[in-house]
Amino acid sequence: MDFTFIIITTVLIVTLVAPVFSYYAIKKARQKDFKTHKKIQTIVYAFCIAAVLVLELLIRFSGGSGSMFKDSSHADNPVFKTILIAHIIGAVLTYIVWTFLIIKSRRKFQKTLPGKFSVTHKRLGIIVFIGLVYTGVTALIVYLMTLDFV
Ligand code: HEM
Repeated sequence: MDFTFIIITTVLIVTLVAPVFSYYAIKKARQKDFKTHKKIQTIVYAFCIAAVLVLELLIRFSGGSGSMFKDSSHADNPVFKTILIAHIIGAVLTYIVWTFLIIKSRRKFQKTLPGKFSVTHKRLGIIVFIGLVYTGVTALIVYLMTLDFV
């Protein structure tokens, strides 16, 4: 197994388990266990940010964007390119809203959350959760096509 394969597979696994743990954390909030909810959401976010940074570094050191899939049979496939762009746009938007949500919610915790900030928090929380599922599903497709598993 080569180094690149191990890194991108690890990043994929982190991306796929993130919505699972986030869902569990949301269940904890529903049970009013807000401390556990906060702890799990923060840890999931930290792991995902670390994974994205590692992936970015790998892409840079491998020769920049495009270097990851240059040997794939799908490299010139317009369907692959479309899925890749849709994945990147969705992932970037999700991570922007997620970062805002984590920072704001940690600051407002036990002040206006629960409280005035709850409605906004819940709405953004659902948006981020859907974004995490979308990012995971599209990442899996990009991964399988990049490594020619499909
Ligand atoms: C780490 C920072 C976070 C803190 C301090 C926090 C805190 C809270 C609190 C106190 C509630 C209960 C609000 C209420 O019932 O009035 C809540 C609910 C909720 N949170 Fe978070 N949260 C955080 C991160 C997140 C993230 C990242 C997401 C989404 C991925 C999320 C999704 C939700 C959802 C969907 C609910 C509503 C649960 C329900 O249906 O009752 N939270 N959060």
